[in-house]
Amino acid sequence: MPSQSRLVELRELRERAKLGGGLKRIEQQHAKGKLTARERLALLLDEGSFQELDAFVTHRVTDFGLADNRPLGDSVVTGWGTIDGRLIYVFSQDFTVFGGSLSEAHAEKVCKIMDLAIKNGAPVIGLNDSGGARIQEGVVSLGGYADIFLRNTLASGVIPQISAVMGPCAGGAVYSPALTDFILMVKGSSYMFVTGPDVVRAVTHEDVTFETLGGAMVHNAQSGVAHFVAEDEQECLSTIRRLLSFIPQNNLEDPPRSELSDDPLRMDQELDQVIPDSPIKPYEMRDIIHRVVDHGDFLEVQEHWAQNIVVGFARLGGRSIGVVAQQPNVLARVLDINSAVKGARFVRFCDCFNIPIITFVDVPGFLPGMGQEHGGIIRHGAKLLYAYCEATVPKITVITRKAYGGAYDVMSSKHVRGDINYAWPTAEIAVMGPEGAVNILFKEEIEASPTPEETRQRLIQEYRDKFANPYMAAARGYIDDVIEPRETRPKLIQALEMLKNKRDTNPPKKHGNIPL
Ligand code: HXC
Repeated sequence: MPSQSRLVELRELRERAKLGGGLKRIEQQHAKGKLTARERLALLLDEGSFQELDAFVTHRVTDFGLADNRPLGDSVVTGWGTIDGRLIYVFSQDFTVFGGSLSEAHAEKVCKIMDLAIKNGAPVIGLNDSGGARIQEGVVSLGGYADIFLRNTLASGVIPQISAVMGPCAGGAVYSPALTDFILMVKGSSYMFVTGPDVVRAVTHEDVTFETLGGAMVHNAQSGVAHFVAEDEQECLSTIRRLLSFIPQNNLEDPPRSELSDDPLRMDQELDQVIPDSPIKPYEMRDIIHRVVDHGDFLEVQEHWAQNIVVGFARLGGRSIGVVAQQPNVLARVLDINSAVKGARFVRFCDCFNIPIITFVDVPGFLPGMGQEHGGIIRHGAKLLYAYCEATVPKITVITRKAYGGAYDVMSSKHVRGDINYAWPTAEIAVMGPEGAVNILFKEEIEASPTPEETRQRLIQEYRDKFANPYMAAARGYIDDVIEPRETRPKLIQALEMLKNKRDTNPPKKHGNIPL
């Protein structure tokens, strides 16, 4: 039995560690509208589940008057806990200690829990709030970052990694979140950039602030760096919990199965009416997703960026799925550079972590234009194609309306190992739309006609009658069945059930060479 004084000492040390940089700095953190590292962990994890490691670690610097300033635990709180009863490793940077900056000791603490996470097959969640490299430590701090980057990369595709940016994240420090699977940001208080406003002003003379350079909406709507935006820290942390509910602990496990509480045979007559009669009139693809999935529960990823494609997580019959769908309401749902990149990354995440992919297709093709061609739509579009070709998880496709040209091939077609491919009767599967096709095929006939426009319209109608339907593709077996929109949910659930033991592999290789 330790003597009483030893116990008192231990308890005092623990209390001191909990105070981080002290009460004054905790108040300053609150005054900025931010929670402390420990308060965040308390909200994120199941109550009482947090097991802290390395609370007594301190930095080792003696210069700059730091020998007498060694807060216990240094500038990060690390350990493990549970979310909905499932094991999670966490680090939470403590801005009250040297602005959460990354010291050698800080990096070692983070690396320790990452190593544990990789060995034990559980996700790592990082709550980032840091002034970057600990200036007083110089290259040792840079080395610490690189140690983390290496682990981020080795863990990629093995365990899910989630980064919440809840304060500053600047310089090379941004690359740890960038290497992880998902980045969440908080409106008004979090920002990310490689070079800060002062440097930008000096070099490019652009007048920028933290917010306009790298605020939450910049990275959620413009750059595509972040995946989720939250109104406040509470919402950010609860989104992490929700996100985890869809994904497995590691690449060798299946996602958790939730209770089957929404009727798997539920039909929805409203779906029969969703597609407008006019082929050029848009509709809301999210309506279809909400009506089909369990309880209409859909967690959209990158909701504000490249909105012509919709990606996110949902469940069908209690099983997690990743949904990829075109959005007819935006940019006429064409594929462009950003939507291809967004779709590709999401498809690859799902494939890494055994999450079946459901693809709803309504795509007239790739966006034409100099901007897209010169921007590399060939290279970027190839990413989406590559991702679908490579994916071995169950892939189920529903063509709701258009599937034209190369986009038909890309969007989880039979030819790229789509397992079950359905089409609604409103589907139009062809090399191109009727107008374009007729203009090319019948140019001379139209020009020679005494009534060119009438002839053109007649030919368009004939083409539409012949090609603008799913039956030519179904006759080839490229479409497994033409289904009534109302039966989409039961059809998808039955197909998922049939595919639940699917095993497919790619040829052995070190790794592929996705067109980056
Ligand atoms: C040491 C730091 C620090 C750092 C902040 N602090 N950043 N200490 N190293 N990098 C300390 C401050 O001195 C201060 O200490 C306390 O943290 C809080 O900082 P404030 O400036 O008072 O807070 P705030 O006004 O909110 O401003 C936050 C900030 C600013 C914008 C992050 O602190 C800042 O610009 N810091 C420097 C950022 C930076 O240039 N980092 C290096 C980036 S390069 P006291 O004792 O006064 O409370 C990098 C390379 C990584 O990170 C490379 C990886 C490959």
